[in-house]
Amino acid sequence: MHYFRIIDEELYAEDIRVSELVEEFGSPLYIYSRRTVEEHWLKWEQALADLDHRVCFAVKANSNLAVINTLAGLGSGFDVVSAGELFRVKKAGGDSSLCTFAGVGKTAEEIEQAISDGIYSFNVESVAELELISSVATGKGVRAPVSVRVNPNVDAETHGKITTGTYENKFGIAFEEVAALYERASRMPGIWLRGVQIHIGSQITAVRPFEDAVRKMLPLVTELKARHGIEFFDIGGGVGIVYQSAMASGTSEWWLGEDKPLTPASYAGALVPLLRGLGLKIIVEPGRFIVGNAGILAAKVLYVKKTGKKRFVVVDAAMNDLIRPAFYDSYHEIMSVGKKAGQELLPTDVVGPICESGDFFCKNRPLPPFESGDCLALMSAGAYGFTMSSNYNSRPRAAEVMVSGKTVKLVRRRESFDDLIRGESFD
Ligand code: LLP
Repeated sequence: MHYFRIIDEELYAEDIRVSELVEEFGSPLYIYSRRTVEEHWLKWEQALADLDHRVCFAVKANSNLAVINTLAGLGSGFDVVSAGELFRVKKAGGDSSLCTFAGVGKTAEEIEQAISDGIYSFNVESVAELELISSVATGKGVRAPVSVRVNPNVDAETHGKITTGTYENKFGIAFEEVAALYERASRMPGIWLRGVQIHIGSQITAVRPFEDAVRKMLPLVTELKARHGIEFFDIGGGVGIVYQSAMASGTSEWWLGEDKPLTPASYAGALVPLLRGLGLKIIVEPGRFIVGNAGILAAKVLYVKKTGKKRFVVVDAAMNDLIRPAFYDSYHEIMSVGKKAGQELLPTDVVGPICESGDFFCKNRPLPPFESGDCLALMSAGAYGFTMSSNYNSRPRAAEVMVSGKTVKLVRRRESFDDLIRGESFD
C-alpha cells in the first residue's frame, strides 16, 4: 500500500503530479509520501497492540530528518547504528531514551556519547565490546543498559548480502555461547543486562524464518529473564516489501493493495501468540517496511541509444543515487511519469551516466518507448536509496522532497559543486 498512483495516465505522489515536482525541484529527485510513512508505521503499532511493545524505526533505511521527525511525532523509537544516526534522531526531535544502538564496531567515543544521551539499550555483538562498554560506563559512574545480539543460526532465505543470522555472518553471539556470556556480563561492574536481541536479515518475504528464530530463542529468553531479570526481547527488523508491482505482469492496475507476501498483521499473527507468554517488552526494528514503498526516485531521460541489438535509455540518475540494482541485482519497478499508455513496450536497459557497466537500473525490461526529455520513476526507492547514495564520479547528491496531500517540502536541497569539495584542501 502506498500513495503513488496513476491518475489519467500521470503519476502522482499523493495529490501532486510527479512531473510538477521534477519541474520545480529538478532531477534526479527523491520523493517521499508522508502519509505512506505514517500509515506503515501505524500498521506495526496496530499489529503489536496486544503486547507491551515498541516500534524502533531502523534509521539506516532512511535517515532524512523529515522522515525521522514524522515518525518521532507518532511516538516511534529508533534503531541506530552509529553516533551519526543518534545525532540525526536528536536533531529531528526523536527521543534518545527510545533508541537501541546496534552494530559490530561501536567506538569508545560512540559508546560514551550514547550513554550520555541516555539510550534505551546497546545491542552488543562481542565480548570485547561488552568489556569496553562496561569500562566506559564505569568511568562515568553508571551501568550501561545492554542486550546481547544472539545469532540464532537460522537461514533467512534472502539475498546473501543481507542475511545476518547464520554462523557465516559477522553478526551477534553464537546461540550456544549466550547463557555463559550473560553470566559473565552480570559480573561486569558497568553492565545492566536489560534485554536480548536478534535480527536475522532483511527483505524477508515469508514468516517462517522469523518464526523459526523466535521459537529457537524462547527457552533461552525465558531462562535469561529468570536469571538476569531482563525486561525486553528485541526481534529485529527484516520484513520484506513488494518491489514488483502488478503492472509488470501485464495488468493496468498497479496499485499494490494489500497483496504483500508479508505484512505486520500476518507477521504478528504468527509471532504474537509465541511472544505473549514471555511477559517481556517486545521491540521490533523495521526499516524497509516503513519507508521502502514510501519513496521514489524520479529521473529524466538524457539520451536513447542503440548498440548492436540493445536499446539503452540513459537517465540522469545513476548508481551513486540508487545503488541497489548494481549491488544486489535488485528489482525496482520503472514507471513513466507522463502519458505513455497504449504504446508498444520495447526491451530496454535503463542506465546511468557513470563509467561502470554495473550502473544500470534494469536490463532487457519491456518498457514504454521512452524518449529524450521524458521523465520516469524508479519505484520503492524510499529504503536504502538516499542513505546508500554517494558522490561517486563527483556527482552532487539528489534533492529530497516530502509530499503531504497537496503540499510539498524540500527536505534536502540538491548538493552543489561546493558541497562536493567541502573539507578538502591542498598545499
Ligand atoms: N535491525 C538491524 C540490526 C539491522 O541490521 C537492520 C538492517 C534492520 C533492523 C532493518 O532491517 P529492514 O527492516 O530494513 O529489513 N541495504 C540493504 C539492506 C541492508 C539491511 C541492513 N540491516 C538493501 O538495500 O536491501
